[in-house]
Amino acid sequence: MGDPTGLALWARLVAKGRTLRGRHLRQLFAEDPARVEDFTFEACGLWADLSRHLVDRETLSLLLALARLQEVEVWRERMFAGERINTTEERAVLHVALRDPEGPPLWLDGVEVRAAIRRELERMERFCEGVRSGRIRGATGEGFTHLLHIGIGGSELGPRAVCEALRPEVREGIEVRFVANVDPQDLALALRGLDPARTLLLVVSKTFTTRETLLNAQAARAWLVAGLGEEAVGGHLLAVSSRPDRAAAFGVPDERIFGFGEGVGGRFSLWSPVGLPIALFAGFDRFRALLEGARAMDRHFREAPLERNLPVVLALLDVWYADILGAESRAVVAYDESLRLLPLHLQQLEMESNGKSVRRDGGEVHCPTGPVLWGSTGTNGQHAYFQLLHQGTRLVPVDILVAAESRIAETDGRHLELVANALAQSRALAFGRSDAETRRELMAEGLTGEALDRLLPHRRFPGNRPSGVILARRFDAATLGALLALWEHRVFVQGVVWDIDSFDQWGVELGKRMAAELLPVLSGEMDGEGLDPATRALVARIRAWRES
Ligand code: F6P
Repeated sequence: MGDPTGLALWARLVAKGRTLRGRHLRQLFAEDPARVEDFTFEACGLWADLSRHLVDRETLSLLLALARLQEVEVWRERMFAGERINTTEERAVLHVALRDPEGPPLWLDGVEVRAAIRRELERMERFCEGVRSGRIRGATGEGFTHLLHIGIGGSELGPRAVCEALRPEVREGIEVRFVANVDPQDLALALRGLDPARTLLLVVSKTFTTRETLLNAQAARAWLVAGLGEEAVGGHLLAVSSRPDRAAAFGVPDERIFGFGEGVGGRFSLWSPVGLPIALFAGFDRFRALLEGARAMDRHFREAPLERNLPVVLALLDVWYADILGAESRAVVAYDESLRLLPLHLQQLEMESNGKSVRRDGGEVHCPTGPVLWGSTGTNGQHAYFQLLHQGTRLVPVDILVAAESRIAETDGRHLELVANALAQSRALAFGRSDAETRRELMAEGLTGEALDRLLPHRRFPGNRPSGVILARRFDAATLGALLALWEHRVFVQGVVWDIDSFDQWGVELGKRMAAELLPVLSGEMDGEGLDPATRALVARIRAWRES
């Protein structure tokens, strides 16, 4: 533990990076016939081919030694044991307990955590069954058809991405609309066509203090009141929070408030009642399958030797790229339309967790930490930013996600077309094309001499660009649970290696405070004295436009 860059091993990794930079993936494959086998990992329905990453076996063993020196195994057990490893907030990290409700008793401050988790799960199940079966109805006696989910950040991205991911399997259920942004357009558009008599309003906020969420919740509540009257609203309101007192003060009836512990961070909370929209939309059985898939990955993370441990190996590759090879970003490209929101959830997971420059003891970090994570679906991304991935100047490791089978019945081969594209991109990135082949292709197009030579550099595919393929049979609820838990542990292991607290997010506070301070200046109640000149000038322009 401590600053990893101070270790003698770190210097060896840097030296190894220098040697490997001069090698091409083509060479690495040629020299090691067992490379594919050695760099293929299987866990919980996921098959990960990591052979096209810019590493060799020695790199991996150095990285594994780094994980051991940084006590990854010790920190992992401390997390599962419910120790307060989120040191800056003095909190335990309990998302793993959420998917193991029947596990051995887990005590925190004299309270057995799993009993509370089981109780909330049972309440969720009863409620879901009631709403989905039509037993629980709205004030006018009609059944609910829609859920309006209000929440932001971790209180939105995870459940929204999962609902979208399960959509191909869902034939009937409650339709969910998500509202996160305080921009009034978000709620206004979500309300279009909704019938208040058939709509449940769910407010999700761990703290129940987030301004965007409270403002949207008030506006949505007013919409319910306008449609149904004040008396009726209670029957249409529900909340998920770790501060039930605040949800009750907002007017949510006690029996409609679902809770989770403070030790569950927002971006790790979809396994808690924050996953209520998933259960209402896709059914409680699928929510349970999601938890079970995640629990299977927790077991893999705890039990597999580090050498074969998928989250550990992925995290170590991330450290390798960020710190030794200097990659500033990573891309995740999901060849699965239903995973289109996944990159946004993963972006929060990684960047809010590991976008840190201070170590646990308050000392500065001396190496880059969390890279920029971005991405979208394939094949769409191929027609947008893949040019840069293939021929640009930056090193961008790519995670390619793809399913062998489609969840939509089709007979015209479009799914295989999708799969072919996923595999082809990884292949083209890694191996590129030799100049001789490019020359042949240009000649086949009728080019010769100077014209050919002029075009050749532009048509060159150098390759040696890393990617990993994470393959599933299909991304059903259980496999999705495993994939999401895999990513959580990946982020956790990165943080342990960097010696940072991955579970706080102090960096989001200052901007929130400043926004609150600016409001009275923007509305003209206060002058902008004390503001910096740039903000003052912007405020003046905005006020001039709004007032003219
Ligand atoms: O933006 C910071 C953050 O605290 C996230 O970590 C969190 O998921 C989000 O805001 C929403 O917070 P809450 O669930 O308390 O409304």
